[in-house]
Amino acid sequence: MNHFDYRGGVLRCEDVALSAIADAVGTPAYVYSSATLERHYEVFKQAFAPRDILVAFAVKANANIAVINTLARKGAGADTVSQGEIERALKAGVPPQKIIFSGVGKTEQELAFAVQTGVHQINVESVAELETLSRVAWALKMPAPIAIRVNPDVGAGGHEKISTGKGDAKFGVSIEQALALYARAHSDSHLEPKGLAVHIGSQIKQLAPLEAAFRVMRGLVEKLRADGLPVERLDLGGGLGVPYFNEPAPPSPAESAAMVGRVMDGLDIGLAFEPGRMIAGNAGVLISRVIRIQDRPKRPILVLDAGMNDLLRPAMYEAFHDIKPVREPTAPEQAYDVVGPICETGDTFSRDRALPPLEDGDLVAFLTAGAYGAVMASTYNARPLIAEVLVRGSAFEVVRRRWTVDEQMALETIPQWKES
Ligand code: LLP
Repeated sequence: MNHFDYRGGVLRCEDVALSAIADAVGTPAYVYSSATLERHYEVFKQAFAPRDILVAFAVKANANIAVINTLARKGAGADTVSQGEIERALKAGVPPQKIIFSGVGKTEQELAFAVQTGVHQINVESVAELETLSRVAWALKMPAPIAIRVNPDVGAGGHEKISTGKGDAKFGVSIEQALALYARAHSDSHLEPKGLAVHIGSQIKQLAPLEAAFRVMRGLVEKLRADGLPVERLDLGGGLGVPYFNEPAPPSPAESAAMVGRVMDGLDIGLAFEPGRMIAGNAGVLISRVIRIQDRPKRPILVLDAGMNDLLRPAMYEAFHDIKPVREPTAPEQAYDVVGPICETGDTFSRDRALPPLEDGDLVAFLTAGAYGAVMASTYNARPLIAEVLVRGSAFEVVRRRWTVDEQMALETIPQWKES
């Protein structure tokens, strides 16, 4: 469920007309709904009740500090993959004890920052990383709480680029390595092995692969405990898909929680999850204006002011985002190719898309753009990063203002070479 619907002939985010935001802020712009973010967090958290789980929002999905803060106020933690994301989570009010630090390429400096911050847990992804982290913890004389990220050799996800759990993916260690690493960490007085972590992919639409992976994890916990090693926690990652169009609904949080309950039945263990898309996906739209319509014999091309630099997913993963006119349509649909202004053919959002008749200056909204939208934007073609707006009821606020080209150029210099 989300809070974007037509009322009074105009598409609204909660009680705010998207046209009012476009008039005030300009386009393109991302618009997020607080109520949707909060609802998704609550639904996920409550699905597991009375079990008290840590819901660590995957900041990579939407790193705006106002979005993270909206969730943090409800009690969410943060799953982070860089020092930058940890700093954002802290700034947004997430307590360090609710921050998970994941990722295959954490630098020594980032590991030190996480240890000094006192994060909840560092998910160690390789044998080599464990050695580095041990060195860091010894040098700081501080404890490093860790989980070992396991690659369960179960692939899943909406696209090969976002599947992470197959044996040859770059993430995590094998089951055998995990057992050895856990014991190794246990014998290190500065490493605190707390548990295991897994994440097999994103935009997962079936529970079966998740269930297979979680069974592997349970087996590992039992094996470690049988070897006399304490295991307090399991971090079961993110990955639940969301509907991007009129497709069969992905598993609900309730179905997912029931499956987890079955798999973990009778096991006394703390659980954490790292949902990103499921929380933020349907909570955001990208609004854009039609620059012009180019007539073509086959079908007209709708040229928008948003480009692949603003919303990369269609170009990168052939992803489908529903497009809705902001003014409620009354006329029958016709076919368009929908493109952005960037100078490459890849900047095509959709071919042969059925849309109501549109005119120059009309507003459209790309739906389900709250996750992996703004965070993946670039300044390609010297286009400034666009504004982000957060709505709450009938109020809205710009939570990241649009950059200017001058601000971009201010980071650059022209060398004053000495003439030879
Ligand atoms: N935890 C870890 C360790 C992850 O790698 C990810 C996502 C998540 C949690 C959150 O997964 P989610 O609940 O959002 O599925 N840019 C791609 C998605 C990349 C996902 C990467 N990892 C896209 O636009 O589809």
